[in-house]
Amino acid sequence: MTQLKNDTFLRALLKQPVAYTPVWMMRQAGRYLPEYRATRARAGSFMGLCTSPDYATEVTLQPLERFPLDAAILFSDILTVPDAMGLGLYFADGEGPKFERPLRDEAAIKALVAPHVEDKLQYVFDAVSSIRKALDGRVPLIGFSGSPFTLACYMIEGGGSADFRHLKAMMYGRPELLHHILDVNARTVTEYLNAQIRAGAQAVQIFDTWGGALTGPAYREFSLSYMQQIVSGLIREHEGRRVPVILFTKGGGQWLEAMAETGADALGLDWSTDIGDARARVGGKVALQGNLDPNVLFGSPEGIAQEVARILASYGSGSGHVFNLGHGISQFADPAHAGVLVESVHRLSRAYHG
Ligand code: CP3
Repeated sequence: MTQLKNDTFLRALLKQPVAYTPVWMMRQAGRYLPEYRATRARAGSFMGLCTSPDYATEVTLQPLERFPLDAAILFSDILTVPDAMGLGLYFADGEGPKFERPLRDEAAIKALVAPHVEDKLQYVFDAVSSIRKALDGRVPLIGFSGSPFTLACYMIEGGGSADFRHLKAMMYGRPELLHHILDVNARTVTEYLNAQIRAGAQAVQIFDTWGGALTGPAYREFSLSYMQQIVSGLIREHEGRRVPVILFTKGGGQWLEAMAETGADALGLDWSTDIGDARARVGGKVALQGNLDPNVLFGSPEGIAQEVARILASYGSGSGHVFNLGHGISQFADPAHAGVLVESVHRLSRAYHG
């Protein structure tokens, strides 16, 4: 295997000394980039991009050609997993992802089984291998999946939702049915992430986009415990290096102590938590990733640099910080402003390291 030319991201996740704070952006390959929109048009659809290792490789590398990012993230989607379970993923124009067969009745839920990931999702592992080859050691490659709970939100609601009415009706009325779905999801995600790691993913992130919609006790029972199960089942060393695990619960800032107990190496923060406070609470145990409000990119270049400076100062000196947005970059963001973000992190963070 090729040596990494830039391992700053992996070192920061393990709190090893670094010369500057590494940075990547959630959804860094996406519609805010005109070259992404052009490739997507050639591929015909979003799933056309995901299922072709050549296209997935091309769009994964696009943001790295523009900006000196410190990590690449596999181009795919969290919803390929429920699609592999037979729920029928489709993207209705302008409406986001939807499922043809959402899980609404007991018979459908009891029939849900963990798919053989190598049969159904081999296109993802082929994309990982192809991206690793194309990166040629430039920066590490991040693999990812949705959390069992966040996947269940889409599987039960059948698409995006403002109130998670169907899911919560099940959670409060027939919790054993939801637990069955979460158990199948957790076993599938463990296999899925391990296969990504074997194919070459050098760190993995679990996206728990909707865990923050729960009460504290429900978060522990229906989201965190299943992420914990996954973390315990993951391959933690590959190619002679530790494979760091990042847990990101959007809206989970109040539960960081519990999240740090899972054995994850790092926690992702959205912008609602002060990163300095978070460090004081859990920085002894885990690295932190975040947490610029993505909407800051709609302001001025000076404003972006100022917010970057504020977050770097709040985290303070020493390793253990990976700079990122607090959620995915908007499709309406100006790519030049994303460039200002990356440049500001690299320039302003040197003062906080060795
Ligand atoms: O970060 C990256 O660059 C890697 C690729 C990636 C995508 N989706 C590509 C994508 C990742 C890591 C995801 C994760 C994902 N997908 C999450 C968790 C993170 C988060 O943002 O909360 C969720 C909830 C999804 C489900 C999903 N997929 C939604 C809600 C949408 C519609 C989004 C929108 O803005 O309309 C998608 C589609 C999707 N996934 C796009 C991209 C680039 C846009 C598709 C397009 O080109 O039309």
